[in-house]
Amino acid sequence: MDLAAFTAALPKVELHLHLEGTLEPDLKLELARRNGVDIGQTTVEEVRASYVFDSLASFLSVYYPAMDVLVTRADFRDLAMAYFARAAAQNVRHAEVFFDPQVHVARGVALEDVVLGYHDAVVDAERQFGMSAGLIACLVRDLPLEGAEAVVDGLLGFADRIVGIGLDSDERGNPPARFAHLFARARAAGLKVTVHCDVDQEDTTEHLRQALEEIVVDRLDHGTNVVEDPRLLELVRTRGTGLTCCPVSNAFVTGDSKAAVIAQLLRSGVRVTVNSDDPAYFGGYVTENLVRLTQEADLTPDELVQLQRNAIEVSWASGEVKEGFLAELD
Ligand code: HPA
Ligand code: ZN
Repeated sequence: MDLAAFTAALPKVELHLHLEGTLEPDLKLELARRNGVDIGQTTVEEVRASYVFDSLASFLSVYYPAMDVLVTRADFRDLAMAYFARAAAQNVRHAEVFFDPQVHVARGVALEDVVLGYHDAVVDAERQFGMSAGLIACLVRDLPLEGAEAVVDGLLGFADRIVGIGLDSDERGNPPARFAHLFARARAAGLKVTVHCDVDQEDTTEHLRQALEEIVVDRLDHGTNVVEDPRLLELVRTRGTGLTCCPVSNAFVTGDSKAAVIAQLLRSGVRVTVNSDDPAYFGGYVTENLVRLTQEADLTPDELVQLQRNAIEVSWASGEVKEGFLAELD
């Protein structure tokens, strides 16, 4: 069987996707023109040539300035709709997607325009593509804590429009425990909690310990370094905590896709999932990530199906969406 064709046709769930990381060069140029923002590039080739990174920090230094082109509620909607259209074309049936409200608010954009713009797209994606989606607002761990606190205050007014709170950006000196009080507030408002523990960062194991033992996260984003600590690995396995892995992204920021570790975790019964992270920057949407993992770790069709079963099980979709997806998988 042609595994690439099998993968392309498979119904899929995506759980680790930054909407701002789906800003393709052509849309970036269009939004820059629309809003009169000088981004220093005028062609798709120039934009692509600026994508030079070999670490999380060097990626983030390209990623954040690009967000200046997002100004109005319609811009946020258009960005998310472009992603949902691509995802639907890859047979993604359900997606839970991150965004970085602090970065936009710090630029003077109203929180309401960000949340409502993205939410407009969630509603339209359901209508146009029959896919379901949830929004996860990430706290940006290397920006001032007061900004995260203010954004959480604001987000609680939109708690019915989002499904969870995450934590992303540069891990150095920014441990999850510093945000524990904000996660507790989000939980009390009925939101789920997930934390990035990026691959092979400084202090990754300690960050994983805090996320699992102190915050008691609902999911871990990346999180493959749990293999280094038998106690944490056992916690993830017994709790059934989902790990949202991103092989193509890993290859960019660490030089290694971590395919062998991801496959090892999958085969030992950990609820691993495969996702695209920042596809416009790393050049691979979810199908390409699955194909890469399949090639590097010799996944079988059953294992590809298991990855999708894991993803819907650890998703925060409604019971109805979960049942419908599992029926489609069979
Ligand atoms: N890690 C941390 N922060 C991020 C990422 C990531 O992979 N993508 C966008 N912001
Ligand atoms: Zn990420």
